[in-house]
Amino acid sequence: MADRETFQAVLPSILTDLEQDLTRKGMPEALTDRFLAPMSKGGKLNRGLIVLNTGHVLLHRPLTTIEIRHLSILGWLTEFFQASYLIWDDIMDASEYRRGQPCWYRREGVGLSAVNDGCLVKSSIMVILQQYFGNRPEYAQLVELFHEASFRTELGQLADMTTSDECNLAEMTMERYKFISENKTAFYSFYLPVALALQYLQRTTEQNLAIVRELLLHMGWCFQVQDDYLDVFGDPRVTGKVGTDIRDNKCSWIALRAFELCSSEQKAVLRLCYGRPDMGKEARAKEVFCQVDIEGVFRNFEMAELDNLEKRIEEVAGDHEPLKDVLWSVLEKISRRDK
Ligand code: FPP
Ligand code: MG
Repeated sequence: MADRETFQAVLPSILTDLEQDLTRKGMPEALTDRFLAPMSKGGKLNRGLIVLNTGHVLLHRPLTTIEIRHLSILGWLTEFFQASYLIWDDIMDASEYRRGQPCWYRREGVGLSAVNDGCLVKSSIMVILQQYFGNRPEYAQLVELFHEASFRTELGQLADMTTSDECNLAEMTMERYKFISENKTAFYSFYLPVALALQYLQRTTEQNLAIVRELLLHMGWCFQVQDDYLDVFGDPRVTGKVGTDIRDNKCSWIALRAFELCSSEQKAVLRLCYGRPDMGKEARAKEVFCQVDIEGVFRNFEMAELDNLEKRIEEVAGDHEPLKDVLWSVLEKISRRDK
């Protein structure tokens, strides 16, 4: 199992390297702290740990010191990737809290310059990647993976935002939901970290990438369903964020399922209350979710999907057998999570 402390211990040296790069570029020292601040903002570190863990479970031998360091760096780059998108997403969703603190754009003296901070966090990925992996044979594949993940995440975000802006609940479909969640969430959160590790360890074939991609995109879709549930029913003291999906008219799994289960009176309440910037209406929409026992519906769905994923992982066979443990360890991370 990947060791969280080992992983965390690598961050300071990455930040020092970035700092040195800034000095070489003549960046005034007073600005360095501001540059680095959004890069060390905590979180569950699941995505970063998946990269290191994939190495541990795939090789069936202890990783060398340099492999641990390289996989941890790739893990941190995955965390930077997510940090940048969350900075932007919180502005777009008008969210208030992230990781138990006010969102970055709401911090004193930050405001809309958070947009540029997000760009800097994202651009730092390529600086670090070049520094550590520029001479390695898999460099082009690593760069390509980050580019592909960026494009997919941004496509997903476009679909997420335009669906909220242009559709009412009755017009939103599960097909649209799948597109949004596979792109906005699943690609960078699940496929990217595993694919980075496979590329670094030079264990990729077209076939094994296709196998992990299909299963990991499915896991990411389930993860987004959980995120949607937690947005409304999670405990902010545990999740570290306060949900905005109802007020933001999001194409959220629980809203779509609740609407399907509603009586015509309940549908009328949702039409009136879902997607309005009003706390009272938000509470009434949530009440309708409770009336159709959406929590029970979600729990049954979660159980069935986790079972289904377990079966599909068991079916991975032949030359691809080593991927099983990788997929199991990722699945474990999403099993009945509460944050
Ligand atoms: C969080 O989903 C969404 C993402 C991590 C993807 C965000 C993508 C962008 C902001 C693309 C923007 C691109 C540029 C270049 C500005 P969520 O809102 O469902 O999750 P949450 O509950 O954690 O907020
Ligand atoms: Mg959001």
